[in-house]
Amino acid sequence: MTEIKATNITWHEGHVGREEREGLLKQKGALIWFTGLSASGKSTIAFTLEHALVERGHMAYVLDGDNIRHGLNKNLGFSAEDRTENIRRIAEVGKLFADAGIVTCTAFISPYLADRQSAREVVGADDFIEIYVNPTLEVCEKRDPKGLYKKARAGEIKGFTGIDDPYEAPANAELEIDSGKISPEDAAAMIIELLEKRGKIPTLGK
Ligand code: ADX
Repeated sequence: MTEIKATNITWHEGHVGREEREGLLKQKGALIWFTGLSASGKSTIAFTLEHALVERGHMAYVLDGDNIRHGLNKNLGFSAEDRTENIRRIAEVGKLFADAGIVTCTAFISPYLADRQSAREVVGADDFIEIYVNPTLEVCEKRDPKGLYKKARAGEIKGFTGIDDPYEAPANAELEIDSGKISPEDAAAMIIELLEKRGKIPTLGK
Protein backbone atom coordinates (compact mmCIF):
# COMPACT_ATOMS: atom_id res chain seq x y z
CA MET A 1 0.00 0.00 0.00
CA THR A 2 1.22 3.49 -0.81
CA GLU A 3 1.81 5.53 2.32
CA ILE A 4 -0.20 8.72 2.05
CA LYS A 5 1.84 11.69 3.22
CA ALA A 6 -0.01 14.45 1.38
CA THR A 7 -2.29 16.25 3.80
CA ASN A 8 -4.08 19.61 3.76
CA ILE A 9 -4.46 19.56 0.01
CA THR A 10 -7.46 20.68 -2.04
CA TRP A 11 -8.61 19.51 -5.47
CA HIS A 12 -9.03 22.34 -8.01
CA GLU A 13 -11.48 21.95 -10.89
CA GLY A 14 -10.28 23.49 -14.19
CA HIS A 15 -12.46 25.59 -16.51
CA VAL A 16 -11.84 23.36 -19.49
CA GLY A 17 -13.34 19.87 -19.52
CA ARG A 18 -12.01 16.68 -21.02
CA GLU A 19 -14.74 16.70 -23.67
CA GLU A 20 -13.68 20.15 -24.82
CA ARG A 21 -10.10 19.00 -25.25
CA GLU A 22 -11.26 15.84 -27.05
CA GLY A 23 -13.42 17.97 -29.33
CA LEU A 24 -10.39 20.04 -30.29
CA LEU A 25 -8.34 16.91 -30.97
CA LYS A 26 -11.17 15.02 -32.71
CA GLN A 27 -10.34 11.89 -30.72
CA LYS A 28 -10.88 10.49 -27.28
CA GLY A 29 -8.25 9.85 -24.66
CA ALA A 30 -7.21 6.24 -24.17
CA LEU A 31 -4.50 4.29 -22.44
CA ILE A 32 -3.12 1.35 -24.37
CA TRP A 33 -1.28 -0.74 -21.82
CA PHE A 34 1.28 -3.09 -23.37
CA THR A 35 2.57 -5.85 -21.14
CA GLY A 36 5.04 -8.67 -21.81
CA LEU A 37 8.60 -9.85 -21.27
CA SER A 38 11.66 -7.77 -22.01
CA ALA A 39 12.32 -7.86 -25.78
CA SER A 40 8.79 -9.09 -26.44
CA GLY A 41 8.24 -6.14 -28.79
CA LYS A 42 6.14 -3.82 -26.60
CA SER A 43 8.14 -0.68 -27.36
CA THR A 44 8.50 -1.47 -31.06
CA ILE A 45 4.74 -1.96 -31.47
CA ALA A 46 3.97 1.09 -29.29
CA PHE A 47 6.25 3.37 -31.33
CA THR A 48 4.94 1.95 -34.62
CA LEU A 49 1.37 2.58 -33.43
CA GLU A 50 2.24 6.11 -32.28
CA HIS A 51 3.69 6.85 -35.72
CA ALA A 52 0.68 5.40 -37.53
CA LEU A 53 -1.72 7.43 -35.39
CA VAL A 54 0.20 10.68 -35.85
CA GLU A 55 0.27 10.05 -39.61
CA ARG A 56 -3.52 9.84 -39.45
CA GLY A 57 -3.59 13.20 -37.73
CA HIS A 58 -4.00 11.99 -34.15
CA MET A 59 -2.24 13.03 -30.99
CA ALA A 60 -0.46 9.99 -29.59
CA TYR A 61 2.36 9.50 -27.13
CA VAL A 62 4.44 6.60 -25.79
CA LEU A 63 5.50 6.21 -22.18
CA ASP A 64 8.27 3.64 -22.43
CA GLY A 65 9.72 1.66 -19.50
CA ASP A 66 13.40 2.09 -20.30
CA ASN A 67 12.88 5.79 -21.13
CA ILE A 68 10.80 6.63 -18.05
CA ARG A 69 13.38 4.90 -15.89
CA HIS A 70 15.92 7.47 -17.18
CA GLY A 71 13.92 10.26 -15.53
CA LEU A 72 10.68 10.14 -13.55
CA ASN A 73 11.37 6.64 -12.23
CA LYS A 74 15.16 6.70 -12.03
CA ASN A 75 14.93 6.11 -8.27
CA LEU A 76 13.25 2.71 -8.77
CA GLY A 77 14.94 -0.64 -9.28
CA PHE A 78 13.51 -4.07 -10.03
CA SER A 79 12.43 -5.40 -6.62
CA ALA A 80 8.74 -6.33 -6.38
CA GLU A 81 8.03 -3.10 -4.42
CA ASP A 82 9.84 -0.91 -6.93
CA ARG A 83 8.15 -2.53 -9.91
CA THR A 84 4.78 -1.98 -8.21
CA GLU A 85 5.62 1.70 -7.59
CA ASN A 86 6.85 2.01 -11.20
CA ILE A 87 3.49 0.79 -12.48
CA ARG A 88 1.49 2.85 -9.96
CA ARG A 89 3.17 6.06 -11.14
CA ILE A 90 2.68 5.19 -14.80
CA ALA A 91 -0.99 4.42 -14.25
CA GLU A 92 -1.39 7.86 -12.65
CA VAL A 93 0.55 9.60 -15.44
CA GLY A 94 -1.41 7.61 -18.02
CA LYS A 95 -4.65 8.73 -16.42
CA LEU A 96 -3.57 12.36 -16.80
CA PHE A 97 -2.61 11.80 -20.44
CA ALA A 98 -5.97 10.17 -21.16
CA ASP A 99 -7.71 13.10 -19.45
CA ALA A 100 -5.69 15.40 -21.73
CA GLY A 101 -7.35 13.58 -24.65
CA ILE A 102 -4.20 11.87 -25.86
CA VAL A 103 -4.06 8.31 -27.16
CA THR A 104 -1.29 7.08 -24.89
CA CYS A 105 0.69 3.86 -25.07
CA THR A 106 2.61 2.47 -22.11
CA ALA A 107 5.32 -0.12 -22.69
CA PHE A 108 6.33 -1.65 -19.35
CA ILE A 109 6.89 -5.30 -18.51
CA SER A 110 4.37 -4.79 -15.68
CA PRO A 111 4.83 -8.39 -14.54
CA TYR A 112 2.23 -8.50 -11.76
CA LEU A 113 -1.48 -9.11 -12.35
CA ALA A 114 -2.49 -7.10 -9.28
CA ASP A 115 -0.52 -4.04 -10.46
CA ARG A 116 -2.12 -4.14 -13.90
CA GLN A 117 -5.54 -4.57 -12.28
CA SER A 118 -4.87 -1.52 -10.11
CA ALA A 119 -3.80 0.41 -13.21
CA ARG A 120 -7.07 -0.55 -14.90
CA GLU A 121 -8.99 0.70 -11.88
CA VAL A 122 -7.04 3.97 -11.62
CA VAL A 123 -7.40 4.75 -15.31
CA GLY A 124 -10.97 3.46 -15.63
CA ALA A 125 -12.18 0.52 -17.72
CA ASP A 126 -13.49 2.78 -20.53
CA ASP A 127 -10.03 4.13 -21.27
CA PHE A 128 -7.88 1.09 -20.51
CA ILE A 129 -6.91 -1.31 -23.27
CA GLU A 130 -4.54 -4.08 -22.20
CA ILE A 131 -2.41 -5.70 -24.86
CA TYR A 132 -0.37 -8.76 -24.07
CA VAL A 133 2.65 -9.04 -26.34
CA ASN A 134 3.36 -12.72 -25.99
CA PRO A 135 6.09 -14.25 -28.10
CA THR A 136 7.76 -17.20 -26.40
CA LEU A 137 10.60 -16.63 -23.94
CA GLU A 138 12.84 -18.36 -26.49
CA VAL A 139 12.02 -15.68 -29.09
CA CYS A 140 12.74 -12.87 -26.59
CA GLU A 141 15.95 -14.50 -25.50
CA LYS A 142 17.10 -14.99 -29.08
CA ARG A 143 16.46 -11.33 -29.85
CA ASP A 144 18.19 -10.13 -26.68
CA PRO A 145 18.79 -6.63 -28.12
CA LYS A 146 20.44 -5.33 -24.94
CA GLY A 147 22.32 -8.55 -24.07
CA LEU A 148 20.42 -8.72 -20.76
CA TYR A 149 19.13 -12.30 -21.06
CA LYS A 150 22.71 -13.42 -21.61
CA LYS A 151 23.78 -11.57 -18.47
CA ALA A 152 20.83 -12.97 -16.51
CA ARG A 153 21.66 -16.53 -17.59
CA ALA A 154 25.26 -15.93 -16.53
CA GLY A 155 24.04 -14.75 -13.12
CA GLU A 156 25.30 -11.20 -13.72
CA ILE A 157 21.77 -9.77 -13.36
CA LYS A 158 19.63 -11.12 -10.54
CA GLY A 159 15.84 -11.10 -10.61
CA PHE A 160 15.45 -10.79 -14.37
CA THR A 161 11.85 -11.24 -15.51
CA GLY A 162 11.24 -14.59 -17.16
CA ILE A 163 14.57 -16.03 -15.94
CA ASP A 164 14.59 -15.83 -12.15
CA ASP A 165 11.74 -13.39 -11.56
CA PRO A 166 8.03 -13.99 -12.29
CA TYR A 167 5.84 -12.77 -15.14
CA GLU A 168 2.12 -13.22 -14.47
CA ALA A 169 0.38 -13.47 -17.84
CA PRO A 170 -2.93 -11.63 -18.29
CA ALA A 171 -6.04 -13.78 -18.30
CA ASN A 172 -8.27 -11.35 -20.16
CA ALA A 173 -6.27 -8.81 -22.10
CA GLU A 174 -8.24 -6.96 -24.76
CA LEU A 175 -5.76 -8.24 -27.35
CA GLU A 176 -2.87 -10.70 -27.52
CA ILE A 177 -0.15 -10.22 -30.09
CA ASP A 178 2.52 -12.80 -30.86
CA SER A 179 5.29 -10.60 -32.21
CA GLY A 180 7.10 -13.73 -33.34
CA LYS A 181 4.39 -14.12 -35.98
CA ILE A 182 2.83 -10.66 -36.44
CA SER A 183 4.77 -7.63 -37.74
CA PRO A 184 4.74 -4.34 -35.78
CA GLU A 185 2.83 -2.72 -38.67
CA ASP A 186 0.12 -5.41 -38.63
CA ALA A 187 -0.07 -5.20 -34.85
CA ALA A 188 -0.51 -1.41 -35.05
CA ALA A 189 -3.28 -1.88 -37.64
CA MET A 190 -5.08 -4.33 -35.32
CA ILE A 191 -4.93 -1.85 -32.45
CA ILE A 192 -6.14 1.02 -34.65
CA GLU A 193 -9.15 -1.13 -35.54
CA LEU A 194 -9.79 -1.68 -31.84
CA LEU A 195 -9.58 2.08 -31.19
CA GLU A 196 -12.09 2.71 -33.97
CA LYS A 197 -14.46 0.09 -32.56
CA ARG A 198 -14.18 1.66 -29.11
CA GLY A 199 -15.04 5.05 -30.64
CA LYS A 200 -11.69 6.52 -29.56
CA ILE A 201 -10.75 7.63 -33.07
CA PRO A 202 -12.98 8.08 -36.10
CA THR A 203 -12.92 5.50 -38.88
CA LEU A 204 -11.01 6.85 -41.89
CA GLY A 205 -13.21 8.85 -44.27
CA LYS A 206 -15.96 9.45 -41.68
S1 ADX B 1 8.78 -3.35 -14.87
O1 ADX B 1 8.94 -4.78 -14.48
O2 ADX B 1 8.98 -2.46 -13.71
O3 ADX B 1 7.50 -3.09 -15.56
P1 ADX B 1 10.13 -1.87 -16.93
O4 ADX B 1 9.29 -2.13 -18.13
O5 ADX B 1 9.96 -0.55 -16.25
O6 ADX B 1 9.96 -3.09 -15.89
O7 ADX B 1 11.66 -2.00 -17.31
C1 ADX B 1 12.10 -3.15 -17.99
C2 ADX B 1 13.42 -2.92 -18.71
O8 ADX B 1 14.45 -2.70 -17.76
C3 ADX B 1 13.82 -4.13 -19.50
O9 ADX B 1 13.41 -4.05 -20.85
C4 ADX B 1 15.32 -4.13 -19.40
O10 ADX B 1 15.87 -3.33 -20.42
C5 ADX B 1 15.61 -3.44 -18.09
N1 ADX B 1 15.91 -4.32 -16.94
C6 ADX B 1 16.99 -4.15 -16.13
N2 ADX B 1 16.96 -5.04 -15.12
C7 ADX B 1 15.85 -5.80 -15.28
C8 ADX B 1 15.28 -6.89 -14.54
N3 ADX B 1 15.86 -7.36 -13.44
N4 ADX B 1 14.12 -7.45 -15.00
C9 ADX B 1 13.56 -6.98 -16.12
N5 ADX B 1 14.03 -5.94 -16.85
C10 ADX B 1 15.18 -5.35 -16.44
